[in-house]
Amino acid sequence: MQDEIEEVQRRAEREIAEAGDLDALERLRVAYLGKKGELTALLKRVGELDPAERKAAGQAVNAAKEAVQAVLEARREELSRSELESRLQAERVDVTLPGRDAEVGSRHPITRMVERIEDLFAGMGFESATGPEVEDAYHNFEALNIPEDHPARMMHDTFYFDEDWLLRTHTSPVQIRVMRDRSPPLRTIAAGRVFRCDSDVTHTPMFHQVEGFVVDEGVTFAHLKGLLQDFLQALFERDDLPVRFRPSYFPFTEPSAEVDIGCVICDGGGCRVCKHTGWLEVLGAGLIHPNVFAQVGIDTECYSGLAFGMGVERLAMLRYGVDDLRVFFDNDVRFLEQFGP
Ligand code: DAH
Repeated sequence: MQDEIEEVQRRAEREIAEAGDLDALERLRVAYLGKKGELTALLKRVGELDPAERKAAGQAVNAAKEAVQAVLEARREELSRSELESRLQAERVDVTLPGRDAEVGSRHPITRMVERIEDLFAGMGFESATGPEVEDAYHNFEALNIPEDHPARMMHDTFYFDEDWLLRTHTSPVQIRVMRDRSPPLRTIAAGRVFRCDSDVTHTPMFHQVEGFVVDEGVTFAHLKGLLQDFLQALFERDDLPVRFRPSYFPFTEPSAEVDIGCVICDGGGCRVCKHTGWLEVLGAGLIHPNVFAQVGIDTECYSGLAFGMGVERLAMLRYGVDDLRVFFDNDVRFLEQFGP
């Protein structure tokens, strides 16, 4: 039995020395020292020996077990150290590498323009309001003194769902909703999408407008002129920007005007953009029509009001020097990212 013990011990020690990883080592531990392991089996056999041989054989098996155990521990330590070593090597981080930049998006130029307009009016005490894009004919037309036979009501301008419901063709219906819900004094600005059944180089079926109005005691055309002149000069950051009012017609204002600025492209000298007139039309405006006040129950004996509306895309084109309306809606990131955060 002594030889057998020695042979098992030597074999175990050799195999342990050759074990390539911790899994292989564990398999060897089970094979020699586990419940059904070879050395455990030898120990069991000691009980079957003659009493005279038992003691020496038992000591020999236990000594072999301890020796194998010790070799196993030593090898385990060696293997875990080198496994850790190679993991550290593989997962090595080069702390001197430069970091990756976080990509910063940018606001759409139309959004920027709307926010800029709202900011300028907020500075003059205006509050912002919104209204639904799906409107009814009453708010979009009738309450704004646009009679049944007005050209703006014709099918080719308006997207209709049915006789009553439509996509709003302008932001003016927000005037009606705000004046109906609240009482003067009112200073309100309303930006949003509007829709017209129209599509060519200078028209898109959806575009943006900003509507503004003031209702208070003693509001006059002089207030309208001063307000819009201040606004336009601030918007284009030019104190000397020429602003002129031309008589015009809107059903919901009386008197009505169209507002021009001196051409910001050619400085009034005449170019393709201003069609060689030196002027650019940028706003519609006027004093709120008594028929509109009658619809919302505002007493014209006490109050008067001014209103104006503008197209955001047109202002953005002029301010950013963009000569094609459609680029605002192509969603080409190379164009959009030029406008900064
Ligand atoms: N709603 C008009 C349009 O879409 C613009 C407009 C003109 C609005 C005069 C106004 C205004 O409030 O007073 O063409």
